[in-house]
Amino acid sequence: MKSQIALLLIIFAVAASGCVNKVEVSQPNEFESQKVKQMGDELAQTLLDTLGATLKNSIQKDGPVDAIKVCKTEAQAIASRISANAIVPVEIKRTTYKFRNPQNAPDSFEKIALDHFNEFAENGQELPLYYIQKIKLGDDVSYNYFKPLKIQSVCLACHGDPATTESSLRATIAENYPEDKATGYKLGDFRGLVRVKIESLE
Ligand code: HEC
Repeated sequence: MKSQIALLLIIFAVAASGCVNKVEVSQPNEFESQKVKQMGDELAQTLLDTLGATLKNSIQKDGPVDAIKVCKTEAQAIASRISANAIVPVEIKRTTYKFRNPQNAPDSFEKIALDHFNEFAENGQELPLYYIQKIKLGDDVSYNYFKPLKIQSVCLACHGDPATTESSLRATIAENYPEDKATGYKLGDFRGLVRVKIESLE
């Protein structure tokens, strides 16, 4: 009987404190920060270099219309391959509010990060080089590293003003991404983030 009451009290305490699966987002300490930054930087850069080279090759070889198809099949596959080859468990993705592929839509943590960078962009300030979140869910701790992406001239062919986008390119984008939101950008605009989720620092 005593133990039943004790158990009930524990259940009540847990429920009242609301700590069942409560998610906490905080800033990591200096040591964690350095490790997350180093891993995040390296993996995000590997993704950008690989994507950039794949895009460049396919534009040169087959033109931008075919490059759209390569992006469609390769962008997420490349991110998955880099994640699978990392020495610690990670998950890499690109995200933005104005997404072309709905699979790249932001989750609640990514929205916090996008808002963080958007504030700088809207005030005309230089974007910070990165942003880190420490996420606690019960006893589980993970980290999100975010690297901002800006629009360069090479991006404009596929993410620029639809009115000046070459018509076959526009048609291919519309066919593959009927709900595309990723156009209308100008040189230097904040486009989105590479997110590296790091499950463990060991
Ligand atoms: C040849 C056309 C093309 C060019 C050039 C291009 N992109 Fe994209 N971009 C795409 C396609 C297609 C997708 C959707 C990929 C997918 O299905 O995951 C995409 C997706 C993205 C995404 C993921 C979020 C979303 O909208 O789904 C980001 C971020 C992005 N592009 C940034 C850039 C940047 C920055 C550049 C220039 C360095 C660039 N892109 C150049 C075609 C292009």
